[in-house]
Amino acid sequence: MNHMDVLVIGGSGLVGSNVVRAADDRGADVTATYRTNETAETAVELDVTDRDVTAAVLQRTSPDVVVNTAAFHAVDACEEERDRAWTVNATGARNVARAADAVDAHLVHVSTDYVFPGHPAEAPYDEDDPVSPLNYYGRTKYAGEQAVQIADRWTVVRPSVVYGVSSGNFLTWALGELEAGNELTIVDDQVSVPTYAPDLAQACLEVFEKGLTGVFHAAGPDSMSRYEFTVGLAETFGYDPDLVSPISTEAFGQEAPRPTDSSLDSTRLYRALDREFRSPSRAFESIRSEWPAE
Ligand SMILES: NC(=O)c1ccc[n+]([C@@H]2O[C@H](COP(=O)([O-])OP(=O)(O)OC[C@H]3O[C@@H](n4cnc5c(N)ncnc54)[C@H](OP(=O)(O)O)[C@@H]3O)[C@@H](O)[C@H]2O)c1
Repeated sequence: MNHMDVLVIGGSGLVGSNVVRAADDRGADVTATYRTNETAETAVELDVTDRDVTAAVLQRTSPDVVVNTAAFHAVDACEEERDRAWTVNATGARNVARAADAVDAHLVHVSTDYVFPGHPAEAPYDEDDPVSPLNYYGRTKYAGEQAVQIADRWTVVRPSVVYGVSSGNFLTWALGELEAGNELTIVDDQVSVPTYAPDLAQACLEVFEKGLTGVFHAAGPDSMSRYEFTVGLAETFGYDPDLVSPISTEAFGQEAPRPTDSSLDSTRLYRALDREFRSPSRAFESIRSEWPAE
């Protein structure tokens, strides 16, 4: 691959910070944006809901590829704050697509498994399965997927429960609790395919490098509940797995309805990249080697 200029929108987030790292490792020129959490002096402030600012940042940076990870993805809060959810996830995606098109950049847009209803008889879903989101977050993300198709060159990647080493995500929270010896009660009847952030980040750049356009599922290979995920985490890190107890979705009582099994089949992407993403058991081993995070 020749030299590339990469713009990572949402570079302060879990997925975005991993894309920044993957692009740095490739020797790319990288510009990362943030909205509220400035993580580096070189990062650029950008709110995708502001069409003019979005267009101006893309004009100024003139990237070859834009990876849009910006989202309002607090699933329950999206039920309450519908305007905000729509403006960031749908209108924001459209603003990015218009701006990317204007500078002839390839747009890689990160979506979600929550575009599917998650009926167990239907899973795992492939890219040709019809979407039908159960909650407002999923509706706004699907609207975002449609909006980015106004760009000339676009790729939508759909991960599922993303995990990695960064503050504020489920994995680091769970490890902190286990380390403190606290008991955790984790839902055991919502199944997905947890996705290791560094694998997703690499894929966001590889789809550009290989000229892959359209929709791709970009998730881990193993279906499991969050409870099973957390027990595996405790075992790998040598914590007492009995600290982790299962609870049903009904008893847990979340505001937004959740898919029961939103597992994605990522075969199309794995074939195109000639590799699979890591399973949680393999990923936990590499996380353990760099734990504790700074
Ligand atoms: N995390 C998951 O389990 C999961 C699962 C499936 C799909 N996804 C999708 O993956 C993508 C990345 O998620 P993530 O886990 O990396 O989220 P995250 O850690 O919360 O990061 C979100 C990023 O978006 C930025 N952002 C938020 N609102 C913005 C706005 N109006 N304009 C510009 N930037 C804005 C944030 O900036 P500041 O922090 O600076 O405010 C942050 O950099 C999202 O599209 C999400 O829907 C995530």
